Amino acid sequence: MSREPNMPNVLELIEAKKASRTNTAAEIADLVRAYLTDEVPDHQMADWLMAVRLNGLNETEIAALTESFVRSGRSFKWDGLGSPVVDKHSTGGVGDKTSLVVVPLAAACGLAVPKISGRGLSFTGGTVDKLEAIPAMRVELDAIEFERQVRGVGAAIVSQSADLVPADRRIYELRDATGTVDAPGLIAASIMSKKLAAGAGTLLIDVKVGSGAFIKDHESAAQFAEMLIEIGKAAGRNVRVLLTGMDQPLGYAVGHAVEVEEALRVLKGNGPPDLVELAVTIVAALIRDSGLRPAPRAARQRAERALASGAAESKFREIVAAQGGDLESFERDLPHKQMPVKRSIESDRAGYVTQIDAGAVASALRELGGARRTKNGELDRDVGLYITKKLGDVVAAGEEWGWIGARDAESAEAAKRIVLRGMSVDDSAPPSRNLILGQMVG
Ligand code: URA
Repeated sequence: MSREPNMPNVLELIEAKKASRTNTAAEIADLVRAYLTDEVPDHQMADWLMAVRLNGLNETEIAALTESFVRSGRSFKWDGLGSPVVDKHSTGGVGDKTSLVVVPLAAACGLAVPKISGRGLSFTGGTVDKLEAIPAMRVELDAIEFERQVRGVGAAIVSQSADLVPADRRIYELRDATGTVDAPGLIAASIMSKKLAAGAGTLLIDVKVGSGAFIKDHESAAQFAEMLIEIGKAAGRNVRVLLTGMDQPLGYAVGHAVEVEEALRVLKGNGPPDLVELAVTIVAALIRDSGLRPAPRAARQRAERALASGAAESKFREIVAAQGGDLESFERDLPHKQMPVKRSIESDRAGYVTQIDAGAVASALRELGGARRTKNGELDRDVGLYITKKLGDVVAAGEEWGWIGARDAESAEAAKRIVLRGMSVDDSAPPSRNLILGQMVG
């Protein structure tokens, strides 16, 4: 049977990956193009993704996949903007609302930030899903609106769309539905295609490591970081990768609306110390790497001042308003006050906190209905958890660790049981660990 020109023989590509053989760059480009035009059906693409999930992609294949994602939509150039253009991305974690702070903070420091983000993937939350907790907030801008906003406001946070890396958009959703998220080559192509298409010259990628991340150990994270740096370097970008701990949730809030509320608290100057530190570190690195303030001290001071002065908070309001969001009504009915059912989580003994398993916290959020791919398929942005203790903290018997906000008593109790299984208190303090585990620059 004759095939259309450039129509890939998908079965052959799947068989090759099943046998750990490589696909050529042209084959990968044809596969992605044909999937986007519906010539390749979901079930075949899912099989290819699963074969890749099991047997991996080599560097050439990852570069080809990244390029075919970038080519599927618009790419941006920021000539004449007058500000360095930077971007930040996280590989995904639990309670990771850092981008909601970093984007306005960087823009308030004089950097331009065209950020294309994703929705929740597997057990991790997605930045644009979180932003949609703000009434009327639009995250699906077309290319013209995206460009106009970055040029006018200095930053935009949007989702992939028909214009913006559409191949990543389709394949991202399919990966989420087929258990093929946690494949380093697929994650690298997904992240770097969004960053390359958005056109920033300076990139910072936060690679999360631990029980609440796709990458569980330091060595694999360092290998993955090298992969990101190589892709960025080949495209002429400055790339810095931070490896950061994700064994416990970041900040206190986990859940869509409560995370936006917590990000706002950081921007108002009273956020959880770990989240504040990470956001300031990232923005200082972007200021330095983009050449805006090459000296590390001056870069950090600039970020700290923009946070303390309220400039970052004003910039967040500007970004939300430009995307149609109604922050006033969000703040009038603050999410943590709206939970129909609340259950506190208490420690059953005194001692040091030695475990707050981020993976268990993510499972509890799913049980509440606050994650994608829950039993009823709905994403409830209004449920969530607050875990106010951190590893190494001292707790008294009966002391509150935090609380759960649920729709009903049954899901609250089920979520509480899951969270408690992931928490431990002991007589001796755990070894202290840094949030930032390492950095690599390319
Ligand atoms: N973030 C992305 O944008 N893509 C992934 O595959 C994982 C995290």
